[in-house]
Amino acid sequence: MPILEKETATDRDRQVLPKVPVPPLKQTLDTYLKCVQHLVKEEQFKKTKAIVEKFGAPGGVGEVLQKKLLERRDKTTNWVYDYWLEDMYLNNRLALPVNSSPVMVFPKQTFRDHKDALRFAGRLIRGVLDYKALIDARALPVDFARGQLAGTPLCMEQYYRLFTSYRYPGLKTDTLKVQMNVASSAPEHIIVACKNQFFVLDVVANSKQLNETEILSQLEKIWKMAENAEERFPPFGILTSDGRTEWAQARDALTKDQTNKDSLALIESCLCVVCLDEPSGLGPSDTNRALLMLHGGGREKNGANRWYDKSMQFVVGMDGICGVVCEHSAFEGIVLVQCSEYVMKYITGSPSKMARASSIRELPPPRRLLWKCNSHMQGLLAASGDRLQRLVNNLDMDVFNFKVYGKEFIKNQKMSPDAFIQVALQLAFYKCGGRLVSTYESASIRRFQDGRVDNIRSATPEALAFVKSMTDERATFTDSEKIKRLRDAINAQTNYTIAAITGMAIDNHLLGLLRMAQELNMEKPEIFCDVTYLTSNQFILSTSQVPTTVEMFCCYGPVVPNGYGACYNPQSDHIIFCVSSFWETTETSSAVFVKALNEGLLEIRDLCNRGNTAATKLACSSQSAGQPHKSGK
Ligand code: COA
Repeated sequence: MPILEKETATDRDRQVLPKVPVPPLKQTLDTYLKCVQHLVKEEQFKKTKAIVEKFGAPGGVGEVLQKKLLERRDKTTNWVYDYWLEDMYLNNRLALPVNSSPVMVFPKQTFRDHKDALRFAGRLIRGVLDYKALIDARALPVDFARGQLAGTPLCMEQYYRLFTSYRYPGLKTDTLKVQMNVASSAPEHIIVACKNQFFVLDVVANSKQLNETEILSQLEKIWKMAENAEERFPPFGILTSDGRTEWAQARDALTKDQTNKDSLALIESCLCVVCLDEPSGLGPSDTNRALLMLHGGGREKNGANRWYDKSMQFVVGMDGICGVVCEHSAFEGIVLVQCSEYVMKYITGSPSKMARASSIRELPPPRRLLWKCNSHMQGLLAASGDRLQRLVNNLDMDVFNFKVYGKEFIKNQKMSPDAFIQVALQLAFYKCGGRLVSTYESASIRRFQDGRVDNIRSATPEALAFVKSMTDERATFTDSEKIKRLRDAINAQTNYTIAAITGMAIDNHLLGLLRMAQELNMEKPEIFCDVTYLTSNQFILSTSQVPTTVEMFCCYGPVVPNGYGACYNPQSDHIIFCVSSFWETTETSSAVFVKALNEGLLEIRDLCNRGNTAATKLACSSQSAGQPHKSGK
């Protein structure tokens, strides 16, 4: 994300960004039909077309709902925000690890001993506090759009939720609470998790923030306190890794006791969680580090040394496996990257401030959080642990660093790197399954007030035509036909991207129409009961570009049981892909997908190269054809 040196968020706040638009109804319905036609059977499509036409007919239900949506747009800052938040996150009952929370994986660190690791953690905490001070002062440089339609300022609201949000589990739906306008003098604390115990680390003493040396000395006290096995409480953090309804029920049981209530209140009001992890016993490959960030390795490893409801959890493993786990409902991966990169640069870039902080204050030791546990609670802890273990055993992850080329090669073909990668993902999927499926690519709509994301439906008809030409066993397509199809697929993808980032995609709009019908207590319109609509919202391929400028990568799990998660980080000469799926489904395999992706990327490169050679030859021969023949005679 680009950073403009001078302008800050305070300046930007004065400029008001436009509101997210409501696209024209006909445009959305036409696009919807175009997006699904080639993904469903012909008979089914006929039915869907009739249903959609009825919905969009003059004087029909669609018009009524559209009018109401336009009114909602006038009355609210962002008409889709709450609808989207509930649909995407809060109503989802699945466990946060793997299914919802993305992670950043840091490069493997080398720690000689636990003291080294604590020094790293102390530095990290200081970096976090520095970053938070920038946020609090509204002094963060404003982000500006890059890539397609570059140059527009982007909404910064997501940053203000990094350290102020907490996702409360609910029986039917969760609640995202954001503490606004917290007085800067308010006491601030971090929760440190160590050996499944939770400690309150106050970061302010006598109105002055702790320096790095003081933080380290507090972390050392925590380390010692956690070592005392006799004082250890059961691993309560594991409850937060459970399904949201199960955790809500457990939380209700927990809060019957005042001690537990007090501990929860301290966790829920902290700035962030810092998890000091035990050595995992696994080799530090990219894939293993990704797995450990996503689920902590289950209850036998660090799965309970977490508090998943909290937006930001920084993980420092004693074996050097480090990263960030993020509860997703408050902000997108791009904001997570900005914060993670700042902290990483702080740790590696600036010289340690330890030497300068000669005086260290005598501080009271951090407090261990206390819990009351009865046999009912023991049962709940065991059940949560079992369910986490199933998730751990189920996750099939493959981090693939494609080193043959990166963004530069693609730009040299005069193609959008993102669109190119999306088309390559479609090719990989087709190679594995012989069909295309509903695909999600997140598109930022931060050009608008409170903008989050909409969906680029990457399984376009043009992509299907291209992948068919590439996989046709009868070899009926010439290179020039394949290249034309590749360009068509990339143009279609790029055009959808531009529509999405300018608020003209269809997913948010259709959701808005559905929610409006519910608000008006109307019978659910047929368009939303249609099989096509339901399957088109099962994102078997869930993709996202999360680029970084510092060595680290983002990953997440699939969003449906028979799906793939594919997060990618395009760099100038390589691309990191994090492919995830579930072992329990025989339909998917991350290794098979990665193999197909590698093959496809090489085939597309070869195709482009052959096309370039042919074009050069053609240009040369037409040049020489135009020149008078030199003759010795
Ligand atoms: N020829 C040459 N270069 C081109 C090109 C072409 N035809 N088309 C684009 N490029 C260049 C761009 O100028 C840009 O250059 P830069 O690296 O100097 O900035 C670069 O290629 C990348 O552009 P592109 O690949 O088209 O993608 P993008 O940066 O516009 O990204 C999205 C597209 C959809 C990923 C982006 O708009 C977005 O929404 N990102 C946020 C995703 C998100 O929210 N992720 C987190 C979810 S949790």
